[in-house]
Amino acid sequence: MAKPRVFVTRIIPDEGLAMLRDQVEMQVWQDELPPPRAVMLREARANDGLVTLLTDKIDAELMDANPRLLVVSNHAVGFDNIDIPAATARGLPIGNTPGVLTDTTADFAFTLLMSSARRISEAVDYVRAGKWKTWGPKLLTGPDVHGATLGLIGFGRIGQGMAKRASGFGMRVLYYDVYRREDLEKSMGVTYADLDSLYRESDFISIHTDLNDSTRRMINARAFAQMKRTAIVINTARGPIVDPNALYDALQSGTIGGAALDVTDPEPLPLSSPLYSLPNCLIVPHIAIASVATRAKMSEMAAANLLAGLRGEKLPTCVNPEVYERGVRK
Ligand code: GLV
Repeated sequence: MAKPRVFVTRIIPDEGLAMLRDQVEMQVWQDELPPPRAVMLREARANDGLVTLLTDKIDAELMDANPRLLVVSNHAVGFDNIDIPAATARGLPIGNTPGVLTDTTADFAFTLLMSSARRISEAVDYVRAGKWKTWGPKLLTGPDVHGATLGLIGFGRIGQGMAKRASGFGMRVLYYDVYRREDLEKSMGVTYADLDSLYRESDFISIHTDLNDSTRRMINARAFAQMKRTAIVINTARGPIVDPNALYDALQSGTIGGAALDVTDPEPLPLSSPLYSLPNCLIVPHIAIASVATRAKMSEMAAANLLAGLRGEKLPTCVNPEVYERGVRK
């Protein structure tokens, strides 16, 4: 019997590719940049399954390009690149890679928190620019992390991971989430706060919510106006949750103290963005999950989801399990 045909939209770690090699006829897009739309549509037509990344837009048009496209396996925990209701309506299961990247992302969010508090990128630039002439008593000072208040927006797996790390630093942790987690408050030593109180009281505000209609531009001028003038905002979730113009104004005017962004809007952030001109804005290229081990595990999960979908089996980690009640594509 002919093997199923699969298109992988980028070179993913070899662990995942190795799981697919004997099982499917596979084509892997070799460029560093994502496949253009025309290629995506062509490959959707020609294949039974796709392994996709956050940078690939999977919408109704693409799903309709091939009614025999059996599965889309996203190599990410997030899936805002995919029109999930459209997929469910079409009986198309969508996979993602939750769990394995929780601690890696929380590690990185905490790294950004510490780096921006203690001005690491400014310090590196200072030394490299030959400005280090002597030991300076007021040189590159920043706020303490230990004992400070951390406000978490979103208290799912990654937000909880941040809380664990913060407790090791003796921080007070506030959280806001649409789902209050009273069951965890005592054991994790965290306090629920409404958003306004969280903005007012936090020294560090770290975003761990998904991107949806209610979180898009949630961190806007009104939110910044309520924050402490020394507050540092950390975003490892999704760029559009923060209004970039309002962020620029807040940083530039001293309404808040700093920001550290792993995600931006748009991505990549063009070099013309005024945010790059601000020393108190640390920007890195969406790498919170980029540990070798986590990327490898994600590729294995993506491969497992893809293979299950091709066999007509339930995906081990499925974004839209309700698709199985309605009946999946065959
Ligand atoms: C990364 O941002 C992911 O959603 O996996």
